[in-house]
Amino acid sequence: MQKLNYLISATQFADRELLESLFASAAEMERHDIARTLKLSLSGRILATIFYEPSTRTRLSFEAAMQKLGGGILTAENARENSSAAKGESIADAIRVIGGYADVIVMRHFEEGAAKAAAAISPVPLINAGDGPGEHPTQALVDIYTIMKELGSVEGKRIALVGDLLYGRTIHSLLQLLCLYPGVSIDLISPANLRLPAKYIDYLKQNKVDFRESDTLDASLPHADVLYITRVQRERFTDVSEYEAIKDSYFVDAVIAAKLKPEAIILHALPRLNEIASEVDSDPRAAYFRQAKNGLYVRMALLTHLLA
Ligand code: CP
Repeated sequence: MQKLNYLISATQFADRELLESLFASAAEMERHDIARTLKLSLSGRILATIFYEPSTRTRLSFEAAMQKLGGGILTAENARENSSAAKGESIADAIRVIGGYADVIVMRHFEEGAAKAAAAISPVPLINAGDGPGEHPTQALVDIYTIMKELGSVEGKRIALVGDLLYGRTIHSLLQLLCLYPGVSIDLISPANLRLPAKYIDYLKQNKVDFRESDTLDASLPHADVLYITRVQRERFTDVSEYEAIKDSYFVDAVIAAKLKPEAIILHALPRLNEIASEVDSDPRAAYFRQAKNGLYVRMALLTHLLA
């Protein structure tokens, strides 16, 4: 089976064998209390989280995952201001130094490509926790795991990806993993100026994935097995008025949810702003908080794969 030494991009998953092994491991972590069943398998190992952009779920779930596996954590939250980056230290130097203290590094950065550059010089495995508008591969693992848990499989499902497809790094990673599942059909729904970048459209075409682009939601609702809505990424806009004009392009409330199939699920990587009404939270099809919790188990499985 394929063995990862780092994780920068969803394209590193050459086939589904490793994915399925990770998901089986995540399910095992979830079924049992890991501290009891795996005997603290990463005891004595250290995870460093270095985040140059804000995070709640990714950073804290990685840190919780490492602690549940018996390891320790070092954390550089708000590293842009609170690490020596504020004095002008390069990422390369920082990663070389942190790699001397930690056994694995989880890094989020505001520039696309930063994780790849860091992984190339890191003395220890490095995981991309989001590189600007590039990718967020561990979120995509969480998303696929969630679809499998909620719907039983990914094959043959119709997935509506909605919102900021230009800057939404979770979407960029997810659609590359979706290419590994036969029969998947993808609806790409975004405002005209937030369409999926051409390189990802090309990737879908190369992999012969059925997809269509639209700027409206309605036609997809009765057919979607998964409605995955995203936040418009305000932090990527230089013109605030442009952001304000499109930030509320799509809104899932009870009226919209009523148009979905009874067995469909609603996903969102979170944080949400004004994409989903709170009235939808009690709908059993609203899977986004379960999706966030799954992040813990998937990241436990990934850390175990990289370090154990
Ligand atoms: N889904 C996700 O990446 O959330 P955070 O930004 O809170 O880590």
